[in-house]
Amino acid sequence: MKNNNHIQIFLACLLTVSMTMACGQLSGESVSPSVAITAVIVPEEAVGVEPSAGTSGLGDSLYPGFGNGGYDVDHYTLDIVVNDVATSNLSASTTIEASALQDLRSFNLDFVGFIINGITVNGEPADYYRKGQEVTITPLKPLVDGQPFTVVIKYMGSPEEMQSVALPVQTGWVTVDGGSFVLSEPDGSASFYPVNDHPRDKATYTFRVTVPNPLEVAANGMLIETLEKGDKTTFVFETRDPMASYLATINIDEFDVENMQSDNGIPIRNYYSTELPAEVRKPFARQGEMLDYFSEVYGQYPFEVYGSMVMNTEFESALENQTLSIYGIDMIDYEDVEGTELTVAHELSHQWFGDSVSVADWSDIWLNEGFATYAEGLWIEHLNGREALDDWVKSQYADVVDNQAYYPAPGKPPADDLFNGGVYVWGGLTLHALRLEVGDEIFFEILKTYFERYKNGNAATDDFTAVAEDVSGKELTEFFNTWLYNKEIPPIPVMELGVE
Ligand code: TRP
Ligand code: ZN
Repeated sequence: MKNNNHIQIFLACLLTVSMTMACGQLSGESVSPSVAITAVIVPEEAVGVEPSAGTSGLGDSLYPGFGNGGYDVDHYTLDIVVNDVATSNLSASTTIEASALQDLRSFNLDFVGFIINGITVNGEPADYYRKGQEVTITPLKPLVDGQPFTVVIKYMGSPEEMQSVALPVQTGWVTVDGGSFVLSEPDGSASFYPVNDHPRDKATYTFRVTVPNPLEVAANGMLIETLEKGDKTTFVFETRDPMASYLATINIDEFDVENMQSDNGIPIRNYYSTELPAEVRKPFARQGEMLDYFSEVYGQYPFEVYGSMVMNTEFESALENQTLSIYGIDMIDYEDVEGTELTVAHELSHQWFGDSVSVADWSDIWLNEGFATYAEGLWIEHLNGREALDDWVKSQYADVVDNQAYYPAPGKPPADDLFNGGVYVWGGLTLHALRLEVGDEIFFEILKTYFERYKNGNAATDDFTAVAEDVSGKELTEFFNTWLYNKEIPPIPVMELGVE
């Protein structure tokens, strides 16, 4: 996200956010299930350890309430019928295939808004209650450690407008004139499906979304089926590779679809709102080249397909949804195609670092944004050579020095300003400093090894620094401590860069 005035908005928003949270806790609505359950919970013949409640968080250091403990999701199937596009009124059902990681008397999902019409676990109606963002589900029979189970949640209504706790934007499902789109990083997914909402619980997805003609749906992965029935069409998308919940996306609009392929055969499909002029496509023309270039630098592109989607709405940002990055129309500068290409390279590079290798904890966010920012520099170097990269590094460094309040150290971002300038620009400079410290050859070996080791999974900052030390054979504790946590950005003497 590139938004230079988000600090001011952020202060106003912080107030609103903390107030809403407090209000949410006070009102803590508790919905009784519409399925009548007469049998009260009968404790299983408790032999040994009693099955207990799964935790209502996954232990994130910044957001302890995100995600849930006690189980692991393998697959989500989102069945959504859009009854009214103007209000995004939905009739929906989410099926979750999961495995218990302990004996469970109850477990939680993250879910905001809607009316729940019933929940079953393994086909039997389950008891549940809601409080704030948590749905606590008590199946008729306790779940057994290691066993798979299936949860079906039926719900209806329009997604609630949701403010992110991490940055001042509306998060989740956003309804606009003539359609809708999704922006969920880090906490918006619960606005449209019940979810174990933490990147540590990745899963594969099926999206089955029915919309009135002539609207269309764009979601992650491959469109595998289109079923027309009367005046409605169902679009079925599948993701082959596991995905962090915040990257799941469903977008509704009328689209022009552009199909291409990289020289090395990676398929690309771009979605453009039909109202947009043909020039909107220009900054996306080199995505094939980018996919092949970053495959060479980081390791083979990890997913089955890639593409970009441009919505005819201004939202001052772009987001790297897995296999399908999204852009607000105001991110496309028709006068500056090369400048816009840097944003395209940024989102595309996130597919490796962010999407395939995902943060283990949200405080590791510089592993996403610092890497994606440095990817802009790498693309510049690829096109125009090392001197052009050095100029870019110098201007990035100068920006940090001139606006120190806006660029805090990348290592410990505050929970209410997760996507601050520091995790992007200073984070990117950290990688350049590492490159100068270990030399080009070892630096690129580090990137490849890190990707190879953690692709399709999660990594923490310590995992990255351990790879850097392994591959380089150097002790880098001091180096990373100053680059990630120092108050002031460290100097880069060989480039004559320093504060003052
Ligand atoms: N990850 C996005 C980027 O590429 C920034 C971002 C984070 C964002 N959360 C968002 C954008 C929510 C839009 C909405 O830099
Ligand atoms: Zn980014």
